Amino acid sequence: MELKTFENLYLQETKTVLKSAFFREGSNEVFNEWEFAETVLRSDGYVPELCVIALDGEAVIGYNALTKAVIGGQSGLALGPLGVQKEYQNAGVGSALVRECISRAKELNYSWIVLLGGGYYTRFGFESGKPYGITVSDNEFDNEHIQIMFLDGSAKNKTSGKLVYCDAFYDSDGNLL
Ligand SMILES: CC(C)(COP(=O)(O)OP(=O)(O)OC[C@H]1O[C@@H](n2cnc3c(N)ncnc32)[C@H](O)[C@@H]1OP(=O)(O)O)[C@@H](O)C(=O)NCCC(=O)NCCS
Repeated sequence: MELKTFENLYLQETKTVLKSAFFREGSNEVFNEWEFAETVLRSDGYVPELCVIALDGEAVIGYNALTKAVIGGQSGLALGPLGVQKEYQNAGVGSALVRECISRAKELNYSWIVLLGGGYYTRFGFESGKPYGITVSDNEFDNEHIQIMFLDGSAKNKTSGKLVYCDAFYDSDGNLL
């Protein structure tokens, strides 16, 4: 397996991979991760070096993106979408993609990476955002899915407040997708 910075020539294949990873019968056809991934590429939060694909030979088998985000006025990154082609899951591809993105984010001197997700992310050093007072909306203070990883320890005591993703994560009414 090889990890490589995403390029547009891989777009259709990457969307097919994300569809394979995320598709559930009857799932939301208006919002889906494979179309969302394309929106992210056109967003104000897109950082080319932080969109990474995994290849098996010439074939795309996984994708992970980190995009610019803000918490309480402090800049950092948000993780997602992350997906691995179904037949390649549970073979270390997702972990390799996440670790590569973390390492690239450190090199680029970002202070933290935030995400909304489940138990998969603890292995990389993500912790609950709750103790830091990180929220996703003005009226919702108790989101147990908010997780953060500090790449710069000194950011810990100044990263608090509402998480604002890049524009791709919101609909035209400003609601988080
Ligand atoms: C989640 C995903 C990216 C993980 O990538 P992967 O290459 O399959 O996973 P890895 O091989 O790196 O890691 C496998 C480990 O993660 C665990 N794992 C996989 N998916 C998990 C999940 N959703 N929640 C918790 N643990 C998970 C496996 O049980 C395995 O645990 P082990 O190491 O203790 O045996 C991949 O399964 C995927 O694309 N899933 C569907 C899309 C998705 O859910 N994306 C993330 C959205 S938040």
